[in-house]
Amino acid sequence: MKRGKWASSFGFVLAAAGSAVGLGNIWRFPYVTGQNGGALFLIAYLIAVIFLGLSVMYAELSLGRHTHKNPVGAFEKIKPRSLWKGVGFLGIVTGISILSYYAVIAGWTLFYTYISAAGKFKQGLSQTDVNGIFSSLVSSPLLTVSLLFLFMLITVYIVSRGVSSGIERWTGILMPLLFVILIFLSVYALTLPGASEGLKFYLSPDLSKLNFHLVLTAVGQAFFSLSLGMGAMITYGSYLPDKDNLFSSGLEVVIFDTLVAFLAGIVIFPTVFTFNLSPSQGPTLIFKTLPFIFSKLPLGRLFATLFFVLLSIAALTSTISLVEVAVAYLVDERNMPRTKAAFLVGLIAFILGIPSALSSSIKPFTSFIAGKDFLSIMDFTWANVSLPLGALLISTFVGFIWKAKNAAEEIRFHKSKKFPGENIWIFFIKYIIPLVLLAIFISTVL
Ligand code: TRP
Repeated sequence: MKRGKWASSFGFVLAAAGSAVGLGNIWRFPYVTGQNGGALFLIAYLIAVIFLGLSVMYAELSLGRHTHKNPVGAFEKIKPRSLWKGVGFLGIVTGISILSYYAVIAGWTLFYTYISAAGKFKQGLSQTDVNGIFSSLVSSPLLTVSLLFLFMLITVYIVSRGVSSGIERWTGILMPLLFVILIFLSVYALTLPGASEGLKFYLSPDLSKLNFHLVLTAVGQAFFSLSLGMGAMITYGSYLPDKDNLFSSGLEVVIFDTLVAFLAGIVIFPTVFTFNLSPSQGPTLIFKTLPFIFSKLPLGRLFATLFFVLLSIAALTSTISLVEVAVAYLVDERNMPRTKAAFLVGLIAFILGIPSALSSSIKPFTSFIAGKDFLSIMDFTWANVSLPLGALLISTFVGFIWKAKNAAEEIRFHKSKKFPGENIWIFFIKYIIPLVLLAIFISTVL
């Protein structure tokens, strides 16, 4: 099968940013930050983004662009007939698994779009109303599974239409618009009476809370948010033309993604403290917090609707990239037509997603292992364990098998001139990243 290419380098930045920016920034980041005590987690997350995320981003993009292959094919091309292509398969499994529960939460955002448009978040909204709306959704197996199905169908349809016509076109106007509305909401959140308490929680760290679980979660969140550790960026890099500037494209994606997450926190925490909500409630956080800000905001109904539409679209550009990894493999290596591959992957993820969709309504999924529901266990396993593991293996491969200096040449814009920080990057990808990730794993297991 013929492979696609991005129509322009800006198109690539948009698509990669579209993959990175999603529920990870707006749903997951605030909730894991809240669960891990706020500011200290934010700092750990920022350190993880700058010191681990950015380097792994370049490792994945260069591997993809150099080989012009899906993750399995990329490892196979550089180290034929070795076990390394297993890292590519791990990526495919991780992608489908993340997709399965990610699309459940994306389904929730569709429901919230509808509730917003129906004008349910109005003046004088009470806690009981907000909880009632949320439980009317999650306690209904039919509704959650149907929304999961609908979201998966939209994703698969777009992926089936191909890389540039399907993916690139969507992201251009909508991501900047999401960013603008977030800025607007942040400014408004800062005028709320609980703003200073919220900011204290979010920005003033308490070092005594430091522990390994926090560090592992911060690293997992950094990789999750940047779509790293499972080959999504290998795949997106593989559609890049050879003359593109990887260094600046990668940097732009990382900065934009991190800003969006940071702003989400600025919106959420002042609101949480203003309305006496719990910052550590977990995956329900944004769904039980944002309604309050919209209920007070002038033209709140309009803003709420716009916000949830944009969030659904941000989620869509992310699910597209989760599907794309497996589809690229099936198209490249198995010669499957794109449409068939997309529908097959979507079907598997849908079936695997059903227990997650039933996580608040049907036993045993409501309390699957150690009192945690199925969706939370999936999220922890794939985001906090599998992505850092994938990143560890990808870095080791790029550093020692492909060799960091070959990768560095791929990142260079002018082949004879080093990119800024090239030597540091080489040192990081070979030693710092594998060692740090290994150390975190060992301490978590102990
Ligand atoms: N980064 C996306 C988000 O923040 C989710 C995502 C898309 C992802 N593709 C990925 C996460 C690949 C890990 C790996 O919402």
